[in-house]
Amino acid sequence: MDDRMTANRDLWNAWADAHVGSEFYDTEGFLAGRDSLDSVELEGVGDVSGQSLLHLQCHFGQDTLSWARHGAKVVGVDFSERAVALASDLAGQLELDARFICTDVYDTLAHLDGERFDVVFTSYGAISWLPDLKPWAEVIAGALKPGGRFFIAEHHPYLWVFDDVSEEIVPPFLYSYFDSKALRWDEDGSYAAPNSGIKAVSYSWQHTFEEIVGALVAAGLRITSLREYPYLAFQWFPTMVRGEDGFWRMPEGGPDLPLMFSLTAVADE
Ligand SMILES: C[S@@+](CC[C@H](N)C(=O)[O-])C[C@H]1O[C@@H](n2cnc3c(N)ncnc32)[C@H](O)[C@@H]1O
Repeated sequence: MDDRMTANRDLWNAWADAHVGSEFYDTEGFLAGRDSLDSVELEGVGDVSGQSLLHLQCHFGQDTLSWARHGAKVVGVDFSERAVALASDLAGQLELDARFICTDVYDTLAHLDGERFDVVFTSYGAISWLPDLKPWAEVIAGALKPGGRFFIAEHHPYLWVFDDVSEEIVPPFLYSYFDSKALRWDEDGSYAAPNSGIKAVSYSWQHTFEEIVGALVAAGLRITSLREYPYLAFQWFPTMVRGEDGFWRMPEGGPDLPLMFSLTAVADE
């Protein structure tokens, strides 16, 4: 693991501990039965009852365990030891059929002992932590059963060009769309625990639509659905407004931007 990934893993270990008790993740509500999956994820993946599901970059497991509550036999993967320990603890409390593996997502196949899945799932804030999507897509293709499906819902790659802390209704362009070098950030708190006092450096990577789709196609997967949405599961700009459906939208008078995408790809029979 290079220094940037080690820095990211240290950050996510600290964030996992801060997130589990945060209002943002509402673990108490989750334990009481709240479904952490939204309508885009639920409709996109479809019925999972009786199916095996691999969740890549599962954080402390709320989404993974929500899939288990929907009847899937689940395995979650994350490189944060703290996230995996917290996820395993939640699974134990809920007595759900779930297994969590602590590994860099790129090394997932080495931990599966040949096990293959009906569904591979990942969502919201996952791929920007990965420098290269080609080996990621190969992991997905390698983890799917013949005829199995991969689903991703993510922030739209175009969002990355804007100044995300701007208070302006029309956010200004700030970054290059095609920049593939690591972006270094000085973190102070996190998106879910802004007052946690956690200060650290993180590294992330912007990926174009061409890279995302191209990596999956090059790994042998067939894209069966690609959708773009004018709303987002998480707040990106401070000016965004949350609707009753829980999704965030641009404010009135703001630009009509693509904020999120979802994609389904299948492995040939
Ligand atoms: C924003 S979370 C995504 C999960 C989900 N959307 C959520 O909010 O719970 C990103 C996760 O990716 C994990 N992660 C980042 N880089 C990784 C890597 N190289 N291998 C495995 N997990 C990684 C982090 O530990 C973190 O739990």
